[in-house]
Amino acid sequence: MAGVSAATPASTIGSFLSKKPYAPPSWASHLSPAPSQTFSLGHLPSPIHKWNLPNLPNGREVWIKRDDLSGMQLSGNKVRKLEFLMADAVTQGADCVITVGGIQSNHCRATAVAAKYLNLDCYLILRTSKLLVDEDPGLVGNLLVERLVGAHVDLVSKEEYGKIGSVALADLLKKKLLEEGRKPYIIPVGGSNSLGTWGYIEAAREIEHQIQISGDVRFDDIVVACGSGGTIAGLALGSNLSSLKAKVHAFSVCDDPEYFYDYVQGLIDGLHSGLDSHDLVSIENAKGLGYAMNTAEELKFVKDVATATGIVLDPVYSGKAAYGMLKDMAAKPAKWEGRKILFVHTGGLLGLYDKVDELSSLSGSWRRMDLEESVPCKEGTGCNQASRYSP
Ligand SMILES: Cc1ncc(COP(=O)(O)O)c(C=O)c1O
Repeated sequence: MAGVSAATPASTIGSFLSKKPYAPPSWASHLSPAPSQTFSLGHLPSPIHKWNLPNLPNGREVWIKRDDLSGMQLSGNKVRKLEFLMADAVTQGADCVITVGGIQSNHCRATAVAAKYLNLDCYLILRTSKLLVDEDPGLVGNLLVERLVGAHVDLVSKEEYGKIGSVALADLLKKKLLEEGRKPYIIPVGGSNSLGTWGYIEAAREIEHQIQISGDVRFDDIVVACGSGGTIAGLALGSNLSSLKAKVHAFSVCDDPEYFYDYVQGLIDGLHSGLDSHDLVSIENAKGLGYAMNTAEELKFVKDVATATGIVLDPVYSGKAAYGMLKDMAAKPAKWEGRKILFVHTGGLLGLYDKVDELSSLSGSWRRMDLEESVPCKEGTGCNQASRYSP
């Protein structure tokens, strides 16, 4: 059976959620280790279309790759990494997976859903404030989905997380589960290890294929948010090795660029690429107030983009990346002059529900429908004008 390629639609009965042999693109055949199996978890290829961003300076064209449409409860960029990570977990005979993230982690939600699709238990270690660590974590956004699909949630404070670290926390839980006779498989924060990197190497093949069949666009730049590094590692490697040759620009939303150059270096060294992360990707700081914290301008930007284009960015990742891109275009016009840019929307819509209070003053207006006295009532409803508005 041929390997899965970007051209393989996951639409035939039985192909979604199936495990398939995987063959890397020819231009990535020297990378090792290469996965041999993948699960079909995403609704892929994700579409690419023109994006008429408000206030885009003249002479730049922006297109958007809709990885936010890669699924519903299992959506966004994490699906691509999980296709490889889950295949490895199942191949290794795991009966449960452990992963770690922030309280509204999209990765943890996607992992919880993927695990249940594949009949595995899911254990999540979620980081939250000291104040909330002993409380019911709530039912907002990603947490609602995680709890509906029955993920086991362990809360740790940010201080504990900082002192112990995600790797040791996951190892602790793994030890406990092993003692209980379980077979746990650890997925690192954000699914960002060298195996997960294949998700966006494969996405580069998908984009290359989409360009080949449409024939009329070539992208000079690819822009994407960076949170744990795996997405940019795969995209940058894929763009460099394939015929894409687009410059990859990452906007980091948590740690500083130097941290990510090093982290990406580790991921691509893990695949024996022989390349230097500084030559593959340019990383800008778009952290702003801090991870998952937004300025009023960023939130207004998210609202304005949604109103103008219908594209809902999540304020934690793609919202900050798109905002950072436009700021960079304004600050360095020559860098972006005449460029055709592909912005990758990495999803995260469920996290938006955690921002409802902050977004409420920006959200659209509403009104009671104007039902004048002259509007007739249905016969037999006992409606008279005096009782019309009573409950
Ligand atoms: C919606 C969304 N976009 C982007 C990212 C960043 O991707 P990565 O972790 O691969 O850097 C994440 C996760 O961190 C995410 O949840």
